[in-house]
Amino acid sequence: MMTYDAFRTGELQGWDARADDYDTATARATIQSIPDLLAAARLAPGLRLLDVCCGPGYATGAAAALGVEAQGIDFAPGMVRAAQTRFPAATFDVGDAENLPFDDASFNAVVCNFGLNHVTDPGRAMREAIRVLVPGGFYTFSVWLPPDRNPAFNLIFGTLTAHADMTLAPKAPDAFALTAPKAAETMLREAGFDTLGVRDVQNILKVPADGLFNFFYRFSVRFALIHDPQTETVQRAIRAEFDRTARAFLIGHDVCIPMPSHVFYGQKPEFGKERTT
Ligand SMILES: C[S@@+](CC[C@H](N)C(=O)[O-])C[C@H]1O[C@@H](n2cnc3c(N)ncnc32)[C@H](O)[C@@H]1O
Repeated sequence: MMTYDAFRTGELQGWDARADDYDTATARATIQSIPDLLAAARLAPGLRLLDVCCGPGYATGAAAALGVEAQGIDFAPGMVRAAQTRFPAATFDVGDAENLPFDDASFNAVVCNFGLNHVTDPGRAMREAIRVLVPGGFYTFSVWLPPDRNPAFNLIFGTLTAHADMTLAPKAPDAFALTAPKAAETMLREAGFDTLGVRDVQNILKVPADGLFNFFYRFSVRFALIHDPQTETVQRAIRAEFDRTARAFLIGHDVCIPMPSHVFYGQKPEFGKERTT
C-alpha cells in the first residue's frame, strides 16, 4: 500500500506554520461552508459535537455559540493554540483524525470542514467518526469541487501542472477523491452511515489583487509542497502565470474567484437498525 509519510509531515508542518494568519488566507473560503455543515449536523443546545481537523476552530466556535458542548481536534499544535485563544467557550486538543483519542459513542455530531482532503486515509477517518458517534448521530464534512468545476482550483492546479515537475512533490492522496457524490456516498456507506445527503455551497474567494501569489502560497499547504522543490526558473514562471491568469477575476481592487464546495452528511444507524451486511 502507498504511504504518504512525507506528505503528512509536510501538511503538519505547513498548517502549524500557517496557524496565526490562517484567518486572512484559507479561512476566507472555508468559513463560508460552516452554516451548511452545522445545519446538516442537526445540532441543539446541550448536545456534544466534535470538530475534526478544526484548524483555528471556526466550526467548533460557531457550534459553541449555539449552546452546543463543542470539542475541536487538530494534529497541528499551533492550530489548537490559536483555536483555544479565539474560542475559550470550546475545548481543543491535539489529535489525529485517523486515530481519534475519544471513547466510542461519545458525541452526538461529528463535523469535518475541509479536513478529509488533507488526511492520508479518509476512509479510516470516517470509520473513526462513526465509532465516536452515538447511534442516530450525524457526520457532516465538506470538500471542494475539482478544478474543472472550480475556478480557484483551476487557477492553482492549472498553473502548477502547466509549469511544475510534479514528480518532485511528495506523493499525496488525490485531493478531489471525495468530490463526486457517488464516491463520497460509497465511502460513507462502507463506513456504516445511512440517510445520506449533500448540500451545495457557492463559496467565493476574495483576495487583494496585489500579492496574489503570496496569498495562495499561504492559502494552500499542498500548493507550497509542489512549488517549493521546483527550480527558481519554474517558480518564477508559476508566479508570473498566477498574476496573469487571476486578472480575469478582477473586480475593483480585489480578485473574486468562485470556489464551490459540497457538504455531505450521513447518519449512524439507530440501535436495532444497523446493517448486517
Ligand atoms: C484546510 S484546514 C481546515 C481547517 C478548518 N476546519 C477550517 O474550517 O478552516 C485543514 C486542517 O486539517 C488539519 N489536519 C490535516 N490532517 C490531519 C489529521 N490527520 N488529523 C488532524 N488534523 C489534520 C490541518 O492541521 C489543518 O488545520
